[in-house]
This record gives sequence, structure tokens and C-alpha cells, in this order.
Amino acid sequence: MLPADMSVKVVDHPLAAHLLLALRDRTTPPALFRTITKRLTTLLMIEATRDLPTITRTVSTPLEEASGETLAQPIVAVPILRAGLGMLDAVVELFPEVRVGYLGLERDEATFQPSEYYAKLPPLEDATTFVLDPMLATGGSASAALESVKKAGAAGVRMVSVVAAPEGVKLLQDDHPDVDIVTASLDRQLNSTAYILPGLGDFGDRLFGTQP
Ligand code: PRP
Ligand code: URA
Repeated sequence: MLPADMSVKVVDHPLAAHLLLALRDRTTPPALFRTITKRLTTLLMIEATRDLPTITRTVSTPLEEASGETLAQPIVAVPILRAGLGMLDAVVELFPEVRVGYLGLERDEATFQPSEYYAKLPPLEDATTFVLDPMLATGGSASAALESVKKAGAAGVRMVSVVAAPEGVKLLQDDHPDVDIVTASLDRQLNSTAYILPGLGDFGDRLFGTQP
């Protein structure tokens, strides 16, 4: 059961489904994998920003005054290295004034525990922060990243992933019930080496062409 204040939004759109299947396809080469990741992240971000607060502003068109809505708060994006980097371009294109922070986290292959090897975060207090990591597997990396951005002052935080496993969603529900998750798919389960099934393999390796 989800705590009342937490939501998991699985983007329901034929284009998102089409792009996700291409990412799952093992024959998709890295160059195309990167392009598709960017397109899918655009769709995920549209959903993740759907309820951002706005303020009313009036501008002068060439003909008369018009009032409309403008974003009320700055946006921060924090990709988790390496794989989250594949999602960053889409966010920068949608929000050119985004502040970008970086967290380097690596999962131990035996224990699946994440360790942080790099952190560089911008001011977060006045912004909505989007943590970007395509794979929410055990959830250990995402949970550690959310802990880091909150410690650094982030208040409104959202998690954006491409594929989430039930185990990872559960961990975030327990550790960060205030953080909403937006994803393209809630997959079935983890395998014995904590890879997501059916998943799409090692995202970082497929993105950067480093498959063994
Ligand atoms: C992968 C992935 C996530 C993490 C998810 O990163 O990009 O960050 O695993 O797993 P978790 O939910 O069980 O923590 P990895 O540690 O392989 O590093 P990389 O992105 O540098 O390849
Ligand atoms: N990290 C990945 O890149 N893929 C998985 O399936 C799990 C963790």
C-alpha cells in the first residue's frame, strides 16, 4: 500500500510505450539508445512537471496586454552518474535555465549497496528538484541520492526513472514517502543479481557502449 501522500505515476502514452520497447530491445545500439532515452525523458518530464506551481504574469503582445502563467520556482536537475546523464539533455532543453547538480553513486556488485563518490549540488532550497536515474532497481542508489539532496536543503523533490522495480518503489515509499516517482514502467521483479526483469539490462553500459 502506498502512503497517502506518495504517488507513483506510470506514464501512459503510446509514444512512451513505443520508445521504452526500443530501449528494451537488446539490438538497439548505443547511439540510438541515447536518442531514445532523451525522447522518453522529455515525456517523463512533461508528466513530472504537470503540477508545478505557477504565478500569473502580464506581458504586452504586439497588439495588447495578455496575462498568463509562468513557473513560480526554479528547477534543479540532479542526474545520478553515470546513467542519469542520459536523461539530462532532455531536461536542459525543456528548462534552459535549470540548475544542474551531480551525484556519483556506484552499486557494489556483490552487496548492491550504493556508495557516493562525487557530489556537487547547486542551491536547492527555493527550487523543485528532479533526481534523474533511469533504473530504480533495489532503490538503494535513488534513496541515497534523495537523502543527499534533502541534506543539502531540497524541499520539493521528485524522482524520475525509466524503469522501476517493485522493490525499489517499496524502498522509496519507506525512506522517502514525501517524494513522488514518475516512471515509464513498473516492471515485474529483480533477479538474483538485482537486475530488473524484464528491464533493459545495464543502462549505463548500453548508453555509453561499455557492455562487457
Ligand atoms: C545503476 C543505475 C542506478 C543503479 C540502480 O548504476 O544507473 O544508478 O544501478 O540500482 P539500485 O536501485 O539497486 O541502486 P550503477 O551502480 O551500475 O552505476 P553506473 O550508472 O555508473 O553504471
Ligand atoms: N542497474 C541497471 O542499469 N539495470 C538494472 O536492471 C539494475 C540496475
